[in-house]
Amino acid sequence: MAMSELAGRVAAVTGAASGLGRAMAFAFAGEGMHVALADVDTTNLESVEKVIRAQGVDAFSMHVDVSKAADVDAFAERTVAELGGVHVVCNNAGVALSGPAWEATEADWQWILGVNLWGVIHGVRAFVPHLIAQNAGHVVNTASVAGLISPPGMGAYNVTKHAVVALSESLHHDLRERGSAVGVSVLCPAYVPTNIADSERNRPRELRAGEKSAEALAKEAILKKAVAAGKISATEVAKAVVAAVKENRFYVLTHPAITGAIRARFEDLLDGRAPRDPLKL
Ligand SMILES: NC(=O)c1ccc[n+]([C@@H]2O[C@H](COP(=O)([O-])OP(=O)(O)OC[C@H]3O[C@@H](n4cnc5c(N)ncnc54)[C@H](O)[C@@H]3O)[C@@H](O)[C@H]2O)c1
Repeated sequence: MAMSELAGRVAAVTGAASGLGRAMAFAFAGEGMHVALADVDTTNLESVEKVIRAQGVDAFSMHVDVSKAADVDAFAERTVAELGGVHVVCNNAGVALSGPAWEATEADWQWILGVNLWGVIHGVRAFVPHLIAQNAGHVVNTASVAGLISPPGMGAYNVTKHAVVALSESLHHDLRERGSAVGVSVLCPAYVPTNIADSERNRPRELRAGEKSAEALAKEAILKKAVAAGKISATEVAKAVVAAVKENRFYVLTHPAITGAIRARFEDLLDGRAPRDPLKL
């Protein structure tokens, strides 16, 4: 069963209350898919659910902290039980953190690794066996261009996103090796205007940030400006994701302007040079 025909099938999206996740949920519903919506922000998630239901497809929204195994397991089980199956899984929830690599506290690392990396790990673990059993479906992991290059001032974020690219490539190989029809895409956008630069709004109290240095605050301000100035909208990115699922395309690079920086990283690596600053290329 190829994923070229999406109508009537089921998509599960994490981080669906805002930004890219919300846009993907709308895009899949626009294709006639039923949609399972997960986020920690239930207020905005319920608004997304209402809009989707008004389009005439089934949907449910659920409070899911993707860093928690039990939450993601429960989300996968409810998706199959309530919507009758699952075909497209978007492991998308994510948070951003700025500052020099050595300043990130243990709580910072736990928070960002928990959401950005464990969230994807749990999604793969909880959903992929369903897809393998039916020999159909597609996994979309949201990484970032920061999973292909390592911009300064975002060390912890870069670590999580490089890991998501590695997990996605490994998942692809493992599925190909067993001849499975299940597809994988890894989404690697550059700046898109969303609420990502305001990620602290959803940080759990127990992993609260300490006092931030002037340098970390300056990096945060740069990120806020760059995200707000992003030239490609969340809707356009979601359209690229739908196309990638239909065409079974692995790498989803939405910002052509960044290609030079990716090429430069691999040239530096192969030519034995230290990495150039990708933000200055
Ligand atoms: N916006 C960009 O410029 C950009 C670029 C590259 C990659 N990304 C990635 O796109 C993904 C979506 O981010 P966005 O830009 O739409 O930001 P966003 O802040 O608008 O949306 C992220 C959503 O994730 C949710 N979330 C946070 N912690 C969670 C948790 N523990 N469990 C479940 N949900 C949680 C938030 O509540 C929010 O609704 C992230 O993985 C991000 O790293 C964004």
